[in-house]
Amino acid sequence: MNKPLINLIIACGQNGEIGLGGGLPWEGEYAEDREWYTSQTLDNIRVGTRGAIMNFTADRPSVLVSSSNEMPDHCLGVYNWHELTPDHILNDIKASFPQYSIYIVGGVEWYEASAHVADRILLTRIAKDFDHDRKVDLDLILANRKLESSKVASTHGEVTFETWV
Ligand SMILES: NC(=O)c1ccc[n+]([C@@H]2O[C@H](COP(=O)([O-])OP(=O)(O)OC[C@H]3O[C@@H](n4cnc5c(N)ncnc54)[C@H](OP(=O)(O)O)[C@@H]3O)[C@@H](O)[C@H]2O)c1
Repeated sequence: MNKPLINLIIACGQNGEIGLGGGLPWEGEYAEDREWYTSQTLDNIRVGTRGAIMNFTADRPSVLVSSSNEMPDHCLGVYNWHELTPDHILNDIKASFPQYSIYIVGGVEWYEASAHVADRILLTRIAKDFDHDRKVDLDLILANRKLESSKVASTHGEVTFETWV
């Protein structure tokens, strides 16, 4: 069995755009990216904020990071980001669920605060501008990393699946 990893998985437009109106800026497009996200996170644990884990895979094992202790029914746990460091949160989840890999799934502040703890970053880069209300600082998320692999999507030339370590 492979060693469980702490991953960060994210898809963004060329300006770091990740969200619009609670959904994706490109909602309904890019089925290949959706399949990529679903297959990666299948049977693993997603760790994210309320706005990030309540998506189409809301029934998957997930852990909430929140300053409120109120926990949605399907969640395995809740960690208070205000009281604990990302390093503490992620390594505690790793120790509690050693059979699973961990996927950091956003939102914006959680991505930016926790990126340095991830063993690798799985970035879907979409070379287009999008209307958005949420965007990340991609330079911050990829700081001190190197590109390990890059593959253009078979269905859309503007979409690239990148792995940064
Ligand atoms: N493209 C992608 O890959 C991707 C991935 C995920 C989400 N999205 C999209 O992005 C949007 C949701 O993201 P969002 O950022 O708006 O989510 P959000 O859940 O609204 O994120 C804000 C929340 O993050 C928590 N937070 C604040 N500072 C934090 C910190 N330093 N560390 C950890 N948590 C902190 C707070 O939660 P509490 O108030 O509970 O404390 C805050 O209310 C949606 O549109 C979604 O579809 C896109």
